[in-house]
Amino acid sequence: MNANELRQKYLDFFKAQGHAVIPSASLIPENDSTLLFTNSGMFPLVPYLLSGSHPAGVRLVDSQKSFRTEDIDEVGDSRHNTFFEMLGNWSLGDYFKEEQLSWWFEFLFVELKIDPSRIYQTVYAGSEDGKISKDNEAVAILQKIFAKYGINASEGPMTVGKGALGSGQQLDFSSQRIFAYRDKNWWQRGDAVGELGGPDSETFYDTGKEHNKAFGEFCHPNCDCGRFLEIGNSVFMQYQKFADGWKELANKNVDFGGGLERILMVLNNQDSIFKTDLFTRAIVRIEELSGKKYEDNKRAFEVVADHLKAATFIVGDDRGVPPSNTDQGYIVRRLLRRAIRYGRQLGIVQEKWLKEIASVFVEDYQSAYPELTKNHDFIFEEFDKEEEKFNRTLEKGIIEFNKLASADINGQDAFRLYQSYGFPLEITEELAAEKGIKVDQEGFAAELAKHQELSRTASAGKFKGGLADSSEETTKLHTAAHLLLAALRQVLGEHVTQKGSNITAERLRFDFSHNEKMTPEQIAKAEELVNGAIAAKLPVTCEELSLGEAKERGAMGVFDSKYGERVKVYTASQLLSDGTPDFKSAFSQEICGGPHVNNTGILGKFKIQKEESSSAGVRRIKAVLEA
Ligand code: ALA
Repeated sequence: MNANELRQKYLDFFKAQGHAVIPSASLIPENDSTLLFTNSGMFPLVPYLLSGSHPAGVRLVDSQKSFRTEDIDEVGDSRHNTFFEMLGNWSLGDYFKEEQLSWWFEFLFVELKIDPSRIYQTVYAGSEDGKISKDNEAVAILQKIFAKYGINASEGPMTVGKGALGSGQQLDFSSQRIFAYRDKNWWQRGDAVGELGGPDSETFYDTGKEHNKAFGEFCHPNCDCGRFLEIGNSVFMQYQKFADGWKELANKNVDFGGGLERILMVLNNQDSIFKTDLFTRAIVRIEELSGKKYEDNKRAFEVVADHLKAATFIVGDDRGVPPSNTDQGYIVRRLLRRAIRYGRQLGIVQEKWLKEIASVFVEDYQSAYPELTKNHDFIFEEFDKEEEKFNRTLEKGIIEFNKLASADINGQDAFRLYQSYGFPLEITEELAAEKGIKVDQEGFAAELAKHQELSRTASAGKFKGGLADSSEETTKLHTAAHLLLAALRQVLGEHVTQKGSNITAERLRFDFSHNEKMTPEQIAKAEELVNGAIAAKLPVTCEELSLGEAKERGAMGVFDSKYGERVKVYTASQLLSDGTPDFKSAFSQEICGGPHVNNTGILGKFKIQKEESSSAGVRRIKAVLEA
């Protein structure tokens, strides 16, 4: 089955169940500034999910163009894309769990003839505070449905975490099919008051791959080893967030999303989405241009193919955005430049090759997404221009980088590579990783903030994970990093300084100077201090000061000239009666480019998952914020 047939089959199946087929919305959000890109089928439907009605009715189905910047680092594992199509069906206060799960499984088992014995399902384990209970209703429905297809589906042990924190025991996949998780089975688009969310039930396909213990002693559906592939998610969107927590909606909605590329891969018995017809012609073209084989260079091929497809769709959208230095345009620039660098690594020497790959995608998608054909001149011109621009400086930039690469790269040099040679931070970081050295992300962000470019994409967090659509999560973790540094200095001593940090939407990695392994007591104490600062709901304020004033104040930061004259200082402290921060009793004061949350109270529960050695005299902490 090819992609066009699969997409059509899905739309037809749900149409037959009374759903109106609606077109994909633009990749560039129209009236919503919370996200740079449409990241799921439900995103453009939020107003309708909230109001409970849509002009086309209360049952909707579509295939939505989606883009997730946060997956940029995952590309290369044969199953992740930044751009993908999400098959989606919705109930706006109409049908609920029973119909949703029955139809979805009928589609999988009857329409697509997927072997039911390969399917595993997860459900919500209930909230930690006990306010929202475990989804036993979904368990009962699932058992009934599995039985209909000849499968005796018993429930496995419950797990509330992921990866190494998973079930912690050998699961019996021959009888156990339904597993309850906590964090993994709650879906919400964002964290602001007013957002919708609810428990979800995810569908996993067992690829039969052997478990890899590098990802944990025992395998389980959410294990990252690659045995189980998530192909769809039924969200029972029945809650809305208020200032004092989640409240049940009058209307119970269903939001289903399934990955077209992944379902196609499963249907065709492939071990990579890049072997499906949505990629094969592009991969062949890259093989021709480079003289290399995909099988021998998977990661580089996947990065090139993924990034060029994503850029083709963003530039070729009816609200298309060309490469630039701000917002969506900067994401396009990063995608194209990263593809150019990987293409070069593969040995592509031909000029103006980006558009060769783009033209393959324009053709592949001409019937489903005719806007690409309509806008192809614009796509090709913009790709050519960007390629010329970057090629002019790439070589010189690499020479310059090599000169710097005898030691870690400081923020100022990383910024110079960015400004003079057009290196997005991640290119500098990738080159650095190849040499085993580090790049000062925060220093880079501070330089950038100083130059007042990229106003909305300037945070270190957004650069690293590229977290356009999870910026709220990264911002929270960014603030948590400040609290952690302050806590570590209280617990371990004033010798502790920050040596680096890396933030994704899921977790914080924090390197700091300290010679010994932390004791369990010290870890618990640091956690307690951070959680105390969160419980105290400290306002976070920002001021611009001269470096001297910041130093006088006792703000943390790197006090050499690279920060320039004026710096931003973020303070987490109680306010005095006149409304100004009480600097004397501040919990944390730090020089930083930002952004940060306005109040520590919204961070949730801070948890240190790991404390380990990073390099000589440097320890590394991995931590998360739990809802
Ligand atoms: N909105 C849900 C998701 O993106 C279906 O997983």
